[in-house]
Amino acid sequence: MNESRPASMSSFWMPFTNNRDFKAAPRLLVSAEGMYYKDVDGNQILDGTAGLWCVPCGHAQPRIVAAVREMIGQLDFAPTFQMGHPAAFDLAEQLMEYTNHRFGHVFYTNSGSESVDTALKMALAYHRARGEGSRTRLIGRERGYHGVGFGGISVGGIGGNRKPYGPLLPGVDHLPHTHNLAKNAFTRGEPEYGTELADELERIVALHDASTIAAVIVEPVAGSTGVLIPPKGYLKRLRELCSKHGILLIFDEVITGFGRLTTPFAFDYFDVEPDMVTCAKGLTNGVVPMGAVFTKKHIHDAFMEAPPGIELFHGYTYSGHPLACAASIATLQTFKEQNILENAASLRQYWEDAAHSLKGLPHVIDIRTLGLIAGIELQPIEGKPGARAYAAFKKAFADGVLIRTTGDIIALSPPLVLEKKHIDELFGKLATILKNLD
Ligand SMILES: Cc1ncc(COP(=O)(O)O)c(C=O)c1O
Repeated sequence: MNESRPASMSSFWMPFTNNRDFKAAPRLLVSAEGMYYKDVDGNQILDGTAGLWCVPCGHAQPRIVAAVREMIGQLDFAPTFQMGHPAAFDLAEQLMEYTNHRFGHVFYTNSGSESVDTALKMALAYHRARGEGSRTRLIGRERGYHGVGFGGISVGGIGGNRKPYGPLLPGVDHLPHTHNLAKNAFTRGEPEYGTELADELERIVALHDASTIAAVIVEPVAGSTGVLIPPKGYLKRLRELCSKHGILLIFDEVITGFGRLTTPFAFDYFDVEPDMVTCAKGLTNGVVPMGAVFTKKHIHDAFMEAPPGIELFHGYTYSGHPLACAASIATLQTFKEQNILENAASLRQYWEDAAHSLKGLPHVIDIRTLGLIAGIELQPIEGKPGARAYAAFKKAFADGVLIRTTGDIIALSPPLVLEKKHIDELFGKLATILKNLD
């Protein structure tokens, strides 16, 4: 293994990165185990973000590593167009069981972005298959993040991710976001204020007519724009309105799936059943890229009633890749064997208390928590949005903790195998950093 610094860093155009700033002072990770990364200088870095929200079971889980090793020696690749391999089918059954059979079918992708675009395409094709081809509009939400495909950025609500790329998909509208610091600051769990923002869907329906709307897509908890937790009853209300108007409801569970809220999925936590769920990340514990779309049985059935032939003209070369399937099956086993959800649930209160103990520190204007997520919002430096949190991120890395920042919000989402001592270390170091931040 190469643990030394690369000879040159100029050729790799890094994603979502200030390349020039990074390359001037790189942060290089070389190995990982359990709750910690090791950097190129041999420093231990506590993983406060599960990589990028994608390592719920912690790093280098032996069962997952062994499963991938075994599969690569047996079946390095197999197509899933007009043929298949057993692990893809076995995993699908296990995933549906993991949803308690609230969903009937799973379509494999390779990422969250692909899952989102797949779900949006399925929604359009579903209505068309049922003779409602006029339902072509897609409704997202301000401050939503649904990956970087053209579908995802169209329904997404982050200006910077949309502006450079032209007109995007036509026929898209957005619900308002639910973030309200004036009313909900320092809330533990779901905020009180903002349930009625779901009713904005009625306004959109009145404007465009329900017969033109295919689907609404939301993240149950918005992660990438800084941990926006839905107001009490908001998601239930969205469900009611979608059902009333024949609109499909898609939950983008790319970060909330696989235990983040201490339940298998956010739809379990909120007890709201969408028609489709997109997921990725924790699906393989981040070990092999993989995403998936879960659909209700009636969605799949609508396609199976078509005349014989390919029912959905969509798929990826690597849909159901053997290595990803092996990693995912082993991830599900690891969740069970190591009682990972139970561990997460047992630490929920401790996590919440530790996060809220930062209240009163310099620049902290909000703290919000749900499951094993925390968002800590800082007062921006005037004229330099994002600079204060980015400085905190760099300082944290230098001090041995990995945090994630988006704008001036620190988002924390550790592996679910953590212990109290890791929570103490994370928030202890963060408190010191905040006390000394300009
Ligand atoms: C809610 C949500 N959807 C989609 C994505 C995109 O996933 P990927 O980066 O795997 O394409 C992300 C990534 O963070 C996400 O948080």
